[in-house]
Parts: sequence; C-alpha cells; structure tokens
Amino acid sequence: MSKVTVVGAGKYGSTTAQRLAEADIADEVVMTDIVDGLPQGLALDMNQSRPILGYRTKVVGTNDYTDTAGSDVVVITAGFPRKPGMSRMDLLEKNASIVAGVTRDIATQSPDAVLIVVTNPLDQMTTLAADVSGFPRSRVMGQAGMLDSARFAHFISETAGVDILDVEAVTLGSHGPTMVPVPSLCRVGAKPLTEAMDAETIDELIERTRKGGAEIVAYLKTGSAYYAPSAAATAMVRAVVEDSGDVMPVCAWMTGEYGISGVYLGVLAAIGAGGVRGVVEAELTPSEREGLVAAADAVKEKVADLDAIEV
Ligand code: LAC
Repeated sequence: MSKVTVVGAGKYGSTTAQRLAEADIADEVVMTDIVDGLPQGLALDMNQSRPILGYRTKVVGTNDYTDTAGSDVVVITAGFPRKPGMSRMDLLEKNASIVAGVTRDIATQSPDAVLIVVTNPLDQMTTLAADVSGFPRSRVMGQAGMLDSARFAHFISETAGVDILDVEAVTLGSHGPTMVPVPSLCRVGAKPLTEAMDAETIDELIERTRKGGAEIVAYLKTGSAYYAPSAAATAMVRAVVEDSGDVMPVCAWMTGEYGISGVYLGVLAAIGAGGVRGVVEAELTPSEREGLVAAADAVKEKVADLDAIEV
C-alpha cells in the first residue's frame, strides 16, 4: 500500500483523488491546493462517502506541502485549464511557473516519488517537471495517451455501433495537433480497424480525436474535461502502485526508440513501481512513423520556447 499525492483540487485534481480513493489501492491520498479550505472540504466530503461505497482509502486535504512528504506517486494537475478558442500551447507561460514551483516543493518532500504530470501543454510541462525535479527521467511521465486513446475508442465504438469494451484504440505523439492516432494498432472486436471502417471515416474520427479536448472545452466554456482525464491518470497511478508492468500510452522520455531521442513523447511504455520500465516499440506503418517523428520535432520546438521563460 502506498501514499499518493494529487497536486491541485480543481476538477481534474479532485476527480483524480476521488477515483484513486474509490479504487482503494493506496493507504492515503493527499490532495493539496493553494486555496484555503478547498482541499479540506472536498476531502471531508469524499471520506464521508466511504461507508456507502465500501472503501477504506482516506483523502487528506491540505495547503501544506509537508503533508505530502514521502509520497510514492504524485499527480501534478496544478495550473490553468483552457477557455474556448485557446490552444493548449496558449497556457505555456502561465502554467510553466506554477508547475515549476509545485515540482520544487514535491521534489523536496518526496525525493523518491514517481511524477505524473497532467498540466497543459502536456509534453512541455512534463519536460519542465523532469528538469526542475532533477529526477531520473524514467520517474517522470505525462498523462495524455491514455486519454486520447480512450477518446478515439469512444468515437470508434459510437460510429461502428459496437460495444465500447470490444474496441482497442491507440494514439501516440503529442497531446495536441501532432497527436498520432494509430489505426494499424486499433481493433474492433477481432477485426483491425482498417477492415472495419473505410479510410475516410477513420480520418474523420482521427480529426475529432485530435480536437477531442477542444470539443469539450467549447461545451463547458469555463474549463476543460476531467472525467476521462482523471480516469486515465488513475490507471497510470494504479500501474505504479501495483508495480504491474502494464503497457499503456504515456508521455515518456525517448532514448532512441523509433530513432527518436532527447524528447518527451507519447508512446507505449511498460509502467511499474519505478515509473517507466521501458518504452515498447510498436510496429507502425511508414506514415504513422513519420507522424511520430513530426510530433517529436514539434514538441522539441516548443520545449525550446520554454527555455526563454523564467521559472
Ligand atoms: C484535454 C485536456 C485535459 O485533452 O488536455 O481534455
């Protein structure tokens, strides 16, 4: 059993704390936020649901980082979400200083933790957390691929009229315009996606997946998605806490896989107690491989912009 911290008690942070507690996989879930009373009130409310739902994990709400000390896993959700019309990249400057500050506190309190970053722009904030923490890069990863893959699976299931649990979908690349949904790794029942649907329909679903976050932001107007994102973050925490070795799409540090290195990128990786056990290289078509290289180049370019920001 372990201690998990969620930084940020906004919608993403609080639903992640709730899902983690309900999964009953940790002794304690600490939720911290700068707003006085918010994490405390939400934690008290969550804890009172335990006898109804039948789980034991306690949530501790706090404004004090010393309460997070000795965490095994830390999910960083702190920062601003998008408003309609904004790209994730529009958040770069504002969220960089928030993520850098949080990461310093977390690294001091929990020097052995695995960090899972979810703040946008995702690939850049994951890079920043790795730089600021000084942790081995295997212990710092970002959540995006689980979410984007789940969105792709949902669209495939709705369009094909098949049970959601019969669909397997994978997206790699960046969490943004250079996202790489990978039809060749997708399945509808026993069939490859490319046999279950025509190319034009697949392309439409890929485009909708790439813009999946913005579609929800446009509806909500005041923030971004959090139910599927928190489900994705929880699945990653579970793999760490249970040291499962489960292979999932995450934003991981590249060390030569697919010929790409020196960048955080969405790829399939085996996740365990120490974070990323290893990137798993999938068999991709030439165009999917090109998409991945283009995504790596786009992330690198924006990471260079980060260097110009004082954090
Ligand atoms: C999304 C945000 C959380 O894709 O990045 O919904």
